[in-house]
Amino acid sequence: MAPKEERRLKVGILGCGQIAQAAHFESAAKARNTDLYAICDVAEDLLRRMAIAHGAEKTFTDYDAMLADPELDAVVIATADAFHVPAAKAALEAGKHVLCEKPLGMAVEEVEELRDAVRTSGRLLQVGHMKRFDAGLQSAKSFIEAEMGEMLALKAWYCDSTHRYAMTDAVQPLIVKSANARRPPTNPKADLRRYYMLAHGSHLVDTARYLGGEIVEVEARLRESFGAYCWFVDLAFASGAMGHLDLTVAVRMDWHEGFQIYGEKGSIIAKTYNPWFYRSSDVEIFREETGATTRVLGADGHFYRRQLEGFADAILNGTPVPGADIDDGVASIRAMVAIRDSVRSGKPVKLADVAGSV
Ligand SMILES: NC(=O)c1ccc[n+]([C@@H]2O[C@H](COP(=O)([O-])OP(=O)(O)OC[C@H]3O[C@@H](n4cnc5c(N)ncnc54)[C@H](O)[C@@H]3O)[C@@H](O)[C@H]2O)c1
Repeated sequence: MAPKEERRLKVGILGCGQIAQAAHFESAAKARNTDLYAICDVAEDLLRRMAIAHGAEKTFTDYDAMLADPELDAVVIATADAFHVPAAKAALEAGKHVLCEKPLGMAVEEVEELRDAVRTSGRLLQVGHMKRFDAGLQSAKSFIEAEMGEMLALKAWYCDSTHRYAMTDAVQPLIVKSANARRPPTNPKADLRRYYMLAHGSHLVDTARYLGGEIVEVEARLRESFGAYCWFVDLAFASGAMGHLDLTVAVRMDWHEGFQIYGEKGSIIAKTYNPWFYRSSDVEIFREETGATTRVLGADGHFYRRQLEGFADAILNGTPVPGADIDDGVASIRAMVAIRDSVRSGKPVKLADVAGSV
């Protein structure tokens, strides 16, 4: 591992659940510029076990008590979606920086209120769209910005696999659960359309925005059959480029994720792996000028650790925020609400016109 740097961000992680255990504890401990300073969960049994396993300096069952710790610099919010906005607001009010798991929230109004809170706080809020820290996607982004010229069209797909749990169970640590964990008042899986859009669609929309820029309008269809959900979404980008998204949960095949971009001076085709393999996407960039294709190796595929390092760099050294910022988080929620509205009405929907929850 890269040696620890002298100046490090003291990070506190809210939530000791699945994503904290599979990604954030290890990321904060391994990152060159952070310390896993504190962890917090209302479930005391879970908290104790995680403190022993990951060696956090301090433990809290009360979030406000963690936020009151003057040594704490920043929090990672790793709770259920319904708790993201209130937890982020409380952290900003306490003067802490925030890395908030995706999606930023569940409704347009609450994330716009959070945007106001970020602006008045002067603190950094980054959204955990960790695919922006995939070296393959980053190579595509650099090519688009520096060499590709005009973008004609972008297609992106994110198709979860019926075999995903067989794969993730094999590579993730055994996830410890607690009956004392805090759950949202309504079961997030009670509405699967909404759940799949928030859990998976949020990744797909962010990838499209990261590479294609602002989305202004969507026209979406949804087909549900044999327990599978398939959204096909036409996009209009502010640049004039056309886009198409395919969100399918779950395909009867291997994990199927990637994108294809047609540009003026070249094209890109990408295959993305199930994130838990920590393998960067295979991104092939064809340059019309040379008539050749290149592919970055992207050997360090720990997107979660790299996103935390980028977040800490921005706070400690004032480098530009390399991840999704508050405006990206809000735009993603608007796009998902627009997709929902378009499915219902059968008509195109402008992102600027939407309200309510995903
Ligand atoms: N980026 C990714 O690839 C990725 C993958 C999986 C999950 N996620 C996101 O991570 C988030 C968390 O998912 P999860 O499956 O780990 O959730 P989880 O419900 O398993 O764990 C959350 C934990 O937070 C604790 N908690 C909640 N509110 C608290 C409070 N106020 N004070 C103290 N403890 C509190 C709960 O007790 C629970 O143990 C979700 O938003 C999800 O979308 C992201």
